[in-house]
Amino acid sequence: MGLEDTSARVVANKHLFGPLYLMELDCPAVAANIMPGQFVHMALPDRDASVLRRPFSIFDRDEDTGHIEILYQTVGAGTQAMTGWQPGFETRMIGCIGRPWEVPFSTKRALLVGGGVGAAPLNLLCQQLVDEGVDVDVILGAQTEGALVCRKRYEEACGKEPRCSTDDGSFGREGFATVLVEEALDAAQAAGTPYDYAAVCGPEPLMRAASGLIMDAGVACQVSLERRMACGVGACLSCVVETVDGRKRACVDGPIFDAEVVVW
Ligand SMILES: Cc1cc2nc3c(=O)[nH]c(=O)nc-3n(C[C@H](O)[C@H](O)[C@H](O)COP(=O)(O)OP(=O)(O)OC[C@H]3O[C@@H](n4cnc5c(N)ncnc54)[C@H](O)[C@@H]3O)c2cc1C
Ligand code: FES
Repeated sequence: MGLEDTSARVVANKHLFGPLYLMELDCPAVAANIMPGQFVHMALPDRDASVLRRPFSIFDRDEDTGHIEILYQTVGAGTQAMTGWQPGFETRMIGCIGRPWEVPFSTKRALLVGGGVGAAPLNLLCQQLVDEGVDVDVILGAQTEGALVCRKRYEEACGKEPRCSTDDGSFGREGFATVLVEEALDAAQAAGTPYDYAAVCGPEPLMRAASGLIMDAGVACQVSLERRMACGVGACLSCVVETVDGRKRACVDGPIFDAEVVVW
């Protein structure tokens, strides 16, 4: 699928916890073609027509029903408006956009690290890796227990409980997810089965710190970078990322980047 502008109809829109919501949409074109790590640029038809689209990762998809899921957090007027979309509401989305996660061919063991709503673009990757026979460990970090909204879904996807951290210590390890990353890297090394690949998405300080630890351990690491996006298709340069290879566009050169090229 190239860059198509397709219609999408809300099937369900559920409040999960605090600012976190899960929206299910009927959008067969995206459900059939999305690759893990890619995103859609979604219109906000109930706001002013001049309002720019908003980028969202696909949390899950079902090719049989043609449904997709978007896990979203309210941060401003656009995402707040989305909370009011009822089943039957019609929007449009451009997709599937961007570079997907690129897992080295020989990967046998992978580590996925998601902070907050940053866990969203890792779920399809987790499913793909498990289907390919890769042994996957997942680390999730959140502010508090209720915000670990993906925990069960990740358990289903990888067949193991994710390791969790919360800032307030209400579930799992108290503190930042980076402590768990360090422990997982050490344990894998000590067991003689080091990770071949790691994918990280979340707040930028987490991505910077976690990818640093992962690369220091000699593991190939990719990150999913979020930038404010205007066009979403490579034309406006509003989403520039500094890399060792020069300035890149997060929308079409990313959003997935090899951690080693990112200038944080
Ligand atoms: C590739 C990609 C995938 C994304 N996937 C998801 C997802 O799965 N779930 C989810 O909840 N969010 C995701 N986002 C972020 C989401 O697009 C923004 O939160 C949303 O556009 C904010 O719209 P708004 O109108 O509510 O906020 P605005 O009023 O536009 O902004 C409110 C605040 O959020 C900040 N902000 C807005 N957009 C971004 C952005 N793209 N990156 C960083 N900060 C931003 C603004 O600087 C401002 O401080 C993704 C972003 C990108 C680039
Ligand atoms: S959003 Fe326009 S170039 Fe990336």
